[in-house]
Amino acid sequence: MMHLRIDGLHWSVPERGGRQRPLLHAVDLCVGKGEFVGLIGPNGSGKTSLLRCAYRATQPTAGRVSLNGVELWQRNPRWCAQRIAVVLQEFPEEFGLSVGEVVAMGRSPHKSLFEGDTADDLQLVAEVLERVGLSGYRERTFATLSGGEKQRVLLARALVQRPEMLILDEPTNHLDPRYQLGLLQHLRGLGLSTLASFHDLNLAAAFCDRLYVIDGGRIIASGAPQQVLTVELLWQVFGLQALIDTHPLHPYPRITWITRP
Ligand SMILES: Nc1ncnc2c1ncn2[C@@H]1O[C@H](COP(=O)(O)OP(=O)(O)O)[C@@H](O)[C@H]1O
Ligand SMILES: [Mg+2]
Repeated sequence: MMHLRIDGLHWSVPERGGRQRPLLHAVDLCVGKGEFVGLIGPNGSGKTSLLRCAYRATQPTAGRVSLNGVELWQRNPRWCAQRIAVVLQEFPEEFGLSVGEVVAMGRSPHKSLFEGDTADDLQLVAEVLERVGLSGYRERTFATLSGGEKQRVLLARALVQRPEMLILDEPTNHLDPRYQLGLLQHLRGLGLSTLASFHDLNLAAAFCDRLYVIDGGRIIASGAPQQVLTVELLWQVFGLQALIDTHPLHPYPRITWITRP
């Protein structure tokens, strides 16, 4: 099992006129072995950018990102892909590929360049498709699926990668309530070290061991959901008033937004 540590991470992008625009500032974050950690914050606060740094897609301007003490940028992308699987917000444009082919792509970090799919690979693809509720979908064309079905295919692709760490960018975005809950229960049950961004704060409160709150590229709070999700913080970060109590059936907090009709 893996633990992820981000220490003193900064990321800036070049602007016109040769200046740098800082987008992530002094970020410290960790995901312990088997821990399920959520990242929340408004649109444009830097969630996707920070996740990209955590799976070695973006090289930070300063600071370290390490997996079990090994800095990601000391290793190649394949080393990372053998350990970290990613499910992103946007769907890839896999024009002609079938569901089975898209999922089998998850095996590629473990294979040599021209090695075909083995019987074990195909067996694993079938098992994982069944686990995400898509057993009859193997021959379907990926491009013709609904958003929720595509999301589950991409989760299946991440799972056949047999990762030790999962990174998910708004994994429940395209899903109806039943699949949102099903997916998150499934993910928790995997017991993998997981870092996921969320828009739905009640889902984040229900499923995450700890939360980090990002605003303007800075982590402004972190801790257990009941410590982090306060009326003051939600007002500060989202500019909304909320009532916060405890879920009637579970020990985690429940947020009710106060809106005027
Ligand atoms: N490659 C990039 N170049 C310039 N600006 C970027 C780049 N990637 C993200 N940004 C900017 O960084 C900010 C944070 O974006 P993002 O990480 O996508 O936020 P979130 O996922 O929280 O909505 C936004 O203002 C976005 O426009
Ligand atoms: Mg984003």
